[in-house]
Amino acid sequence: MSNLIEQGWPKPILDKNKLDRKARIAIRGAFGQLGTRLIGALGKQLDLEATIGLVRRDPTVELRGFAAVEGHPDLQLFTTDESELGALKDLGFNVGLWTNDHFRDVDLMIDTTPPGKGADFAYRSRENNKPIIVQSGERGFGRLVSPPLIAGGEGIIFEAGDCNVNAISVVGSALSGILTRVGVNILMQHGRFFHGRLRDEPVISTYFVSGKPTQEHLQHLFPILDLTVGNISQVPSLRYYTHNFVMETADLVDAGEVRDLLDKHPRIRCLPHATSTYDVREYDNILRAAGGARLPPIVPIIVQGGTPFQKSKTVEMIVTIDSRRITVLPNIDAARTLLWGVEPIESMRITDETMHFVKPPDEIK
Ligand SMILES: NC(=O)c1ccc[n+]([C@@H]2O[C@H](COP(=O)([O-])OP(=O)(O)OC[C@H]3O[C@@H](n4cnc5c(N)ncnc54)[C@H](OP(=O)(O)O)[C@@H]3O)[C@@H](O)[C@H]2O)c1
Repeated sequence: MSNLIEQGWPKPILDKNKLDRKARIAIRGAFGQLGTRLIGALGKQLDLEATIGLVRRDPTVELRGFAAVEGHPDLQLFTTDESELGALKDLGFNVGLWTNDHFRDVDLMIDTTPPGKGADFAYRSRENNKPIIVQSGERGFGRLVSPPLIAGGEGIIFEAGDCNVNAISVVGSALSGILTRVGVNILMQHGRFFHGRLRDEPVISTYFVSGKPTQEHLQHLFPILDLTVGNISQVPSLRYYTHNFVMETADLVDAGEVRDLLDKHPRIRCLPHATSTYDVREYDNILRAAGGARLPPIVPIIVQGGTPFQKSKTVEMIVTIDSRRITVLPNIDAARTLLWGVEPIESMRITDETMHFVKPPDEIK
């Protein structure tokens, strides 16, 4: 395995040998859906913690805002907007006004605000020499990071991959040793006309006019692989996304070899008996029942089927992405690698374990 720098990751922000504390992370958009989940998930990490939340009085503040704060009483709250300060205080939040001095109190910023809200703050963070991961899907002003991969480039603004990129980077990296060409077609949700809150679940997902932007994004991660995103079909409110892979390999392979490569990689699970997202959901339910009240243990990237085929140089594969579970984890993987220099696949393994996204035991396979 090559070292971090050869893999394109920058020198770690912190020095493990000199610091005996967790890395401190500030979440911008801390009262949002992704922000609150991220705070909860960071609370389970041994080497990372959310110490600061940048918030505003969002429409669900009475629901998620209080829940986030009550669950994490040490989280310090700030707002960048002076006009919000009074309203947040009146609601009972202990909140201060964010100034540039506060950048010194954190090691990494993660911005989970919606598209269009991230660029100005990312530049401000950079001016204050603070690395930032931006989650909004806004493109073109940061360096793409989608563990285990990172795009080439410089700088301390990092753009997190979207749901599709975060899944394809994992599958592509697991199979990178055998692939020469990949085509992917995507079925996912969009939130263009449903942009708002449904049952306290905002549906913010980009409307793609074609697969080209995703393909261009992925090419930054796989510069030498012939990779085409053919088509993105979108329907509203779809929880499981489907990626249809058609791949060409350098040598003859069989289904078992492909499955082995995928199964030994964190975050992916092959389900030989699954033929649809319905089967994946049923399997998830079985695992949940078997796991009692624990967090659902199914990993967010499921490869369906695995019909045995003769050794071939063409492999077709259907991958189910659980859109509710794919997003939080790569932020944590990337934070651990950027902050402490943990090798990215190892970082993913640690995140999977701490969040109980483990491979299921043999008896319930
Ligand atoms: N949820 C997912 O599973 C998921 C998956 C993939 C990607 N993403 C991406 O992640 C981003 C956030 O998604 P989400 O579902 O978490 O949306 P969300 O629930 O609307 O959260 C965004 C939060 O940021 C707040 N905000 C906006 N401007 C702010 C500012 N200047 N300072 C502090 N907070 C501010 C929003 O408040 P207001 O409501 O008042 O504006 C809201 O509380 C989006 O770009 C989305 O595309 C989310």
